[in-house]
Amino acid sequence: MSSFQTSPGTRDILPPHAGRWRALIQVFADGVESAGYQNIIPPMFEDLGVFQRLGDATDVVTKEMYDFMDKGGRHIALRPEHTASVCRAFAQHRPTPPWKVWYSGPNFRYERPQAGRFRQFDQVGIEVLGVDDSQLDVEVISLGWDFYQAIGLSNVSLVINSLGDAGDRGRYVEALGAYFTTHSETLSEQALATLERNPLRVLDSKRPQDASAIAGAPAIGAFLSTDAAAHFAAVCAGLDALNIPYVVNERLVRGLDYYQRTTFEFISGSLDSAQNAVGGGGRYDGLVEDLGGPATPGIGFALGVDRTLLACDAEECFSYGIPALDVFVIDTTGGSHALSITHQLRHSGFSADRAFEGRSMKSQMKSADRSGAQVAVIIGDTEAEESTCTVRNLSTSEQTTISSTELQSHLETVLGPRQPRRHTP
Ligand code: HAM
Repeated sequence: MSSFQTSPGTRDILPPHAGRWRALIQVFADGVESAGYQNIIPPMFEDLGVFQRLGDATDVVTKEMYDFMDKGGRHIALRPEHTASVCRAFAQHRPTPPWKVWYSGPNFRYERPQAGRFRQFDQVGIEVLGVDDSQLDVEVISLGWDFYQAIGLSNVSLVINSLGDAGDRGRYVEALGAYFTTHSETLSEQALATLERNPLRVLDSKRPQDASAIAGAPAIGAFLSTDAAAHFAAVCAGLDALNIPYVVNERLVRGLDYYQRTTFEFISGSLDSAQNAVGGGGRYDGLVEDLGGPATPGIGFALGVDRTLLACDAEECFSYGIPALDVFVIDTTGGSHALSITHQLRHSGFSADRAFEGRSMKSQMKSADRSGAQVAVIIGDTEAEESTCTVRNLSTSEQTTISSTELQSHLETVLGPRQPRRHTP
């Protein structure tokens, strides 16, 4: 065993899994970019104050923050999510709204590690700032839904709720607090502690002891203002129009405090119930203002990459094959002929690998087979002397010797035309 191991709650994403990971992000990027969202890359750490806006009473802020004093005496935190950073960036740079952005990257929360719950976990997500329109809520939710469809996950359900406007939410929290206080003798110790900090979060308790009090608790629906109720009805109607199935759950409370009006979660039926939320989001109309910007409506979601891939494993979808190489170069001479041929092949747009350390022909042939390449280009003493190379089809074992100058056109007839590798804007 090596003397160092990954820290609890962190993992190495090794090949080929890392390739699958990147492919997942590419599917997400393709989907949201085709809907007008542009990539944003905020820093991984910020002033702690940026994240304190997620709520004084949330676990994320009170228990799970990776914060430290830096050498310049600043109180810094590793980001526990992206939304606050995106709003800070909006307040700082003042782009013209509507601002539609997408992101992907790691987040850090000091949680108790378990299957599907990590201390470093990745999200992909979108945020839109500057639009107050229920049709946007529908667009945002539908992009999350479409992503799960695109990767082949079928056992995912959409749960939605409205937390009302700031005033509605405040009145509801007060009523919930009063209700749970009168039922305090039935609540678990943990729920009582949560009640003091945030009555809403008591609704999220999974302890059997709290179930009956939660079942009788007032529901948010009765507290919605006319505007908030109309907004929510319009969101539901929009989802109906797009044939996106959903369940309204008035007990859906999210773990962060910035939400108002529409909130939603994507739940995988294939994961353990403690970690079955593969994504979530909602409106957060006060966050930009809280961070020093102009009053700006916002909405977005984040999907957990780790959990989404666990759900894909459970559903046996989004499989990933190691990309096959075009060519494997075998060299038994140790000269520079193989070096320049491999270099040239890559420049011409072929994917090519080679063996090193002058290993035997037999061992290099094995590496060629293992690489999945379709063709081996073999350079022995005769080939090196005569500036030729032997091209071997690795599936049929047919081989032919040609002049090195013909190699590119020969391979193009076998493997198809290639474009030189160069960035095209
Ligand atoms: P969240 O519900 O805290 O929301 O996280 C979103 C998703 O990230 C979760 O549904 C889950 O899949 C994944 N996730 C969260 N914590 C962990 C963890 N410890 N290990 C593995 N996966 C995890 C947010 O982060 C909001 N910023 C979403 C949002 C965007 N709301 C509006 N815009």
